[in-house]
Amino acid sequence: MQLFSFALLVASFVVSIGAQSIFTPARPPALPLAVRSPYLSTWLKAGSDGGNGGYLAGQWPVFWQDQSTGWTGLVRVDGKTYTWMGLPGTETVNQTAFEYTSTKSIFTMNVADKLEMNITFLSPITPTDYKRQSLVFSYLNVEVSSLDGEDHDVQVYADISAEWVSGDRSSIAQWDYGTTDGVAYHKVYRQTQVGFSQWNEQAEWGYWYWATEAGKDVTHRSGRDVDVRGEFTGKGSLNNEHDDKYRAISDNWPVFGFSYDLGGVSSAPVNVRFSIGLAQDEAIQFEGASSYDALPSLWKSYFNTELEALSFFHYDYERASYISSSFDSQVAKDSLAVAGQDYLTLTSLSARQAFGATQLCGTEDKMYMFLKEISSDGNMNTVDVIFPAYPIFLYSNPELLKMVLEPLYENQEAGKYPKAYSMHDMGSSYPNATGHNDGTDEPMPLEECGNMLIMTLAYAKAAKDIDYLNEHYDLLKKWTGYLVEDALYPANQISTDDFAGSLANQTNLALKGMIGIQAMSVIAEETSHYSDAHNYSKIARDYIEKWQDLGINKYANPPHTTLSYGDADSHGLLYNLFADAQLGLNLVPNSVYQMQSDFYPTVENKYGVPLDTRHSLTKGDWECFAAAIASPDTRDMFIKDLATWINETPTSRPLTDNYDTNNGNFPPSPTFVARPVVGGSFALLLVTS
Ligand SMILES: *[C@@H]1O[C@H](CO)[C@@H](O)[C@H](O)[C@H]1NC(C)=O
Ligand SMILES: *[C@@H]1O[C@H](CO)[C@@H](O)[C@H](O)[C@H]1NC(C)=O
Ligand SMILES: *[C@@H]1O[C@H](CO)[C@@H](O)[C@H](O)[C@H]1NC(C)=O
Ligand SMILES: *[C@@H]1O[C@H](CO)[C@@H](O)[C@H](O)[C@H]1NC(C)=O
Ligand SMILES: *[C@@H]1O[C@H](CO)[C@@H](O)[C@H](O)[C@H]1NC(C)=O
Repeated sequence: MQLFSFALLVASFVVSIGAQSIFTPARPPALPLAVRSPYLSTWLKAGSDGGNGGYLAGQWPVFWQDQSTGWTGLVRVDGKTYTWMGLPGTETVNQTAFEYTSTKSIFTMNVADKLEMNITFLSPITPTDYKRQSLVFSYLNVEVSSLDGEDHDVQVYADISAEWVSGDRSSIAQWDYGTTDGVAYHKVYRQTQVGFSQWNEQAEWGYWYWATEAGKDVTHRSGRDVDVRGEFTGKGSLNNEHDDKYRAISDNWPVFGFSYDLGGVSSAPVNVRFSIGLAQDEAIQFEGASSYDALPSLWKSYFNTELEALSFFHYDYERASYISSSFDSQVAKDSLAVAGQDYLTLTSLSARQAFGATQLCGTEDKMYMFLKEISSDGNMNTVDVIFPAYPIFLYSNPELLKMVLEPLYENQEAGKYPKAYSMHDMGSSYPNATGHNDGTDEPMPLEECGNMLIMTLAYAKAAKDIDYLNEHYDLLKKWTGYLVEDALYPANQISTDDFAGSLANQTNLALKGMIGIQAMSVIAEETSHYSDAHNYSKIARDYIEKWQDLGINKYANPPHTTLSYGDADSHGLLYNLFADAQLGLNLVPNSVYQMQSDFYPTVENKYGVPLDTRHSLTKGDWECFAAAIASPDTRDMFIKDLATWINETPTSRPLTDNYDTNNGNFPPSPTFVARPVVGGSFALLLVTS
C-alpha cells in the first residue's frame, strides 16, 4: 500500500492545472459506474471518440451498449443549482480528481470553491461471499463538506430515468414509490414483462430499485424530467408527488428523484447514499441434467422478498465496502509485487468488468455462475471466453471457476450434445442456456477441448478437489481422444480468434491440444488411472518433440514460433504456452519460453505486440498470458504498453480487448467491448517464476 500512495502523489503532481481533473492511476476509455451484471452495467464514456475525457458532469452515463441511462445528479449550494452527473442543463461542477480501485470509482468535485464533493460508485466484489455477490445492486455515495470554512446551505439530488428498465424506448414503463424498513425506494419496471428477453442488450424483465434512506429531510417525486429536476433547481426539494400516467420511456421522459436537504454544511463531511439494482426472480433458462428449467437468481435463496434484499443491501454498505476494500488491497498488493503500478492499472480496471459479465443463479445446494459473452455475440458460458477470464476467477475464488463450468458439464454429461468434442457455449443468446442438442454451435473443437481440460485441472489443483476429476473423468477422456487425433496436425478450423478466419496447422492451437493431453495425463494420475496417465504423457511428449520441428522457425534471427506450420515468416503470440506454466506441467522445454521472450520485443509496435502476422491488431488478454510467462523485461514491455494504451486510446467504450497496436483504436472490425476476457490480466498472479 505504501508504493500505491506514492504512485498517487506522483500522478497528482504531474497533471493538476485549473479546473482539469487528474486521473489516477489512469484515465480509462470508459469509467465504470455501476457495473455488476450483464444488465447492471453503466459507464461514463471518457475517450476522445465520443467521450468527454472522463468528466461525470456534462455527459450522460451509458449502458455498455452505448444507450443513455439518463442518470442525473444535482447539488444546490446557497440557492444555486449545479450538475454533478449527467447532462440535465444546469452549470456543471468542476471535477478535480478521479480515482479507481478494483471495486470503486471516486470523483472529487469543487463547487464554486464553496463545497467539496466526493462521489463514490461502489460495485462490490465479494468472491467468497455468495450472498453478497448474488445481489445485482450497486452503491452511489455522495459526501460533501465546506471548502472555504463557511457554512453553506446544501441540498443534494439524484434521479434515474425509466431508460434503465428496457432497451426499447417506446415500451411502457410503470413505477411505484414506497418505504421498507426505513429505506425509501422508487420501483421502476417494464409494464409488460417479457421474461428472458433482451432489447438492445438490456433486460426486458425484472424490477429496478432506486433507493435511499427515508427521513424528514428527504423528499421524492416521479414525473417528467424537466419538471422534477426543475422543481429541485427552483426550491431545493421535491413535492412527493406520484405521476400515475404510466407511459413510454421516451414520452415526456419519466424520472424518479430523491432530494436531501442537508441544511448548513460545515467542513465536517456529510454523507448521502443511494442504491441501484435489478431484482429478477428467475434469471436464466437452463437445459441441464433434468428438463428445461427456469433458474432463480441466487439471492432468492437468502431473502424472502425483493424488499428484504433491497433493505439488506442498502444498510450493508459498511460491510460490503469493507470486503470490497480488502479485495482492492489484495489486488493492489499482489499486482504491485509482481509487476508494479502499470500492472495494477490493468488488473484494477479489469475486475468489475470481468465480474460484471457474470451472474449467480440456482440455489445454495446447486449454484451456477452464468457468464455473458458481452458484445461479441451474447453467447452464454462460452468456453473460449471463460478461458481468457479464468485467471481472475482462479485468483479470487477457484469455486467460481467450477460454478461457471458446471452448466457445460451438466448438459453434456446428460448426453445433450451430439459431438465427440467439447461444446462451444451453453446457448447462443444470454439468458437462454439451452444448449445445442443439434450440435450447430460455432465449431471450435480443438480450442474448447483443450480449454476444458486445462481449466478443469486448474480448478481441481487450486481447490484440491480430486472428486471433481473423478466425476468428469469419462467426458474428459473422450475429449482427450479428440485431441490425440487432431492436436499434432490440426485440421483447418478456427481458433478462439475467430475474427482472424480459419487456418490449418495453427502452431499455437496445436500447442493447446498437446497441453490438454498432458493435463489429462495428470488428471489420470491423480485419479489412479495409471495406464491412461502413462499413455497420454507419452503421446504429449512425442507430439511436443515434433511440434518443435513443425512450428518453430529456427533459422530466423531471432528464432520464433510461426503462426502455422511451415509458414516461415509468420509469427504470433504463443499465449497457449501459459497453461503449461500455470499447471506446472513442464511439458514444453524452457528454451521455447526463452525464445519467445527474446522474440516479442523485436515485433513490438507503439501499443504492444500484434496478435499475429495477419494484422496490426492485438488482444490484450493474450498479451497478458504471454507476459505472465516472459522474462521480466519482456513482461514489463507488455504491461507498460497496455497501461500506456489505456491512458491514450481514443476508444470511449468499456475496455476493449481488441485494438490496433499502432493507433490504439478499434480495428475496422470487430468492436469488442466490456468483455469478461479482461479477467486474463490476472494471469501474472497465477504463475510464480
Ligand atoms: C469551474 O472552474 C472555472 C475555472 O476556474 C470557474 O470559472 C468556474 O466558476 C468554476 N465553476 C464552478 C461551478 O465551480
Ligand atoms: C474527499 O476525499 C479526500 C481525499 O480522500 C479527503 O481529504 C476529503 O476530506 C474528502 N472530502 C469529503 C467531502 O469527503
Ligand atoms: C429466450 O427464450 C425465450 C423463449 O423461451 C424467447 O422468448 C427469448 O426471446 C429468448 N431470449 C433471447 C435473448 O434470445
Ligand atoms: C492411448 O490413447 C489413445 C488415444 O485415446 C488410444 O487410441 C490408445 O489405444 C491408447 N493406448 C493405450 C496403450 O492405452
Ligand atoms: C499440416 O502440416 C503437415 C506437415 O507439414 C502437412 O503434411 C499437412 O498437409 C498440413 N495440413 C494442411 C491441411 O495443410
